Order: sequence, then C-alpha cells, then structure tokens
Amino acid sequence: MDFFQGACDVHCHLLPGVDDGFATAEKSLQALKKLEEHGVEKMILTPHFMKDYPLNNRASIMAEFEAFRSEVADSCKIELRLAGEYMLDANFMTHFEQGFLTLDKDGKHVLCETSYLMYEQGVTEMLYDVMCAELQPVIAHPERYEYAKKDNYYRWKDKSYEFQLNLLSLAGTYGQGAVAKSHYLLKNGFYDYIGSDMHGLSNFERFLPELRLSTKEIDQLYRLKENNKRLFD
Ligand SMILES: [Fe+2]
Repeated sequence: MDFFQGACDVHCHLLPGVDDGFATAEKSLQALKKLEEHGVEKMILTPHFMKDYPLNNRASIMAEFEAFRSEVADSCKIELRLAGEYMLDANFMTHFEQGFLTLDKDGKHVLCETSYLMYEQGVTEMLYDVMCAELQPVIAHPERYEYAKKDNYYRWKDKSYEFQLNLLSLAGTYGQGAVAKSHYLLKNGFYDYIGSDMHGLSNFERFLPELRLSTKEIDQLYRLKENNKRLFD
C-alpha cells in the first residue's frame, strides 16, 4: 500500500515498557523496521498518561524517550518525536500543570482520550480549560467510544476539537461499531489527522489487508496524511 510512503504517524505506543504498548526495545525496533520498509518516515510516540500508569510523568517519559532514541538511532532511519496521549481522568490536570507533551513543536496540539464506555463527569470542563489556555484538543480515535453518538461528534466539532482517526478502525480492529462510525466520520470530513495507535505488530499485519475503502475515503485519507505532516514539521 503506497499510502505509507513518506507518511508521518501521529499516534503510537512504540516507546517500550511504559504502558500497554510495546514491551521491549527489541520489539519496538522490529516494528520500526517494518514501518520503514512500508515507507513511513516520521513517527510521534504517544505513551499513555492516565491513572493506570501513575509513574508516567513528563520528566520520566522524556528520559525514557531519549534513552530509546539513542538506542535505536543507528538501526532506524525513521525520525522520532515524543508526545503523549492524555486520558481525561482525575490525573489530567496534574499533567496539564506539568506541561503537556504536544503533537506539534509549537506546543499547541494535545492528544486527548476519554474512557471507551462513558463520558465521565468533568471531561467537558477539562477540555474547556485546555481551550482557554489556547491549546488545541485533538480527540484520539473518536470512533472507538461506545457511548458516542452522532450528537456527540457534532457537538465536539462545534467546540472546535480536532479528531484523529485510527486507520485500522476502518478495517474492524475494534469491532463493527467502530467500523460504522469511522466510515461515517471519514466520509463526512470529521477527521483532521490519522494514526496507527499501534500497540504491537499483530493487529497491523492481521487487519491491514482487510481495509476496504471507497475512492472518496481514499481521498480523505490522503488529506489527513498531509495534515499529519504539518503537525510534525
Ligand atoms: Fe493510543
């Protein structure tokens, strides 16, 4: 698939050993090599910042990233950058105070996620605070939230939140609900960026061949690919 040629991934869990993503640097390097073969040129690593990983904070993750980057520097040509994926939970405001690791160099775009099952109390207020600080919330994989209906998506867009699609949502990695929602949101131009949200290589290898897209959807994907590059540059 030549879609990956020159691509920049803005969401993945390749920083090893810090969350539910890749467990070892060796496995991460194996994935990086695979992605390099596909033509991927840049990746933003976005480890989880959430209650489940209380040890992850700005300083610790930055140190882990620098160690990983020097470890793989000689073996991998993909350019790596660090950001975070911030769960809108009880720890969110602490990470806010420490300073978010943002998707862009200008420090504006914050990748945020909610629980899959429910829109918890306080989420709207936290996102309001993010906007008030002149930061841009980017909602990670909105198609994956089971509670979310069309109303939610329109409301979030009205509030100027940006949306990031998980590519493999379209292929069934997260079930039929996410398939339907991702195709709807893609066709209707809701998305701003695209990411792999890769936690391991197996889903990538299993579901990528399952992707079935219309011409209109493919055009949309290329638009997102260009937007991704603007975040990285
Ligand atoms: Fe993620």
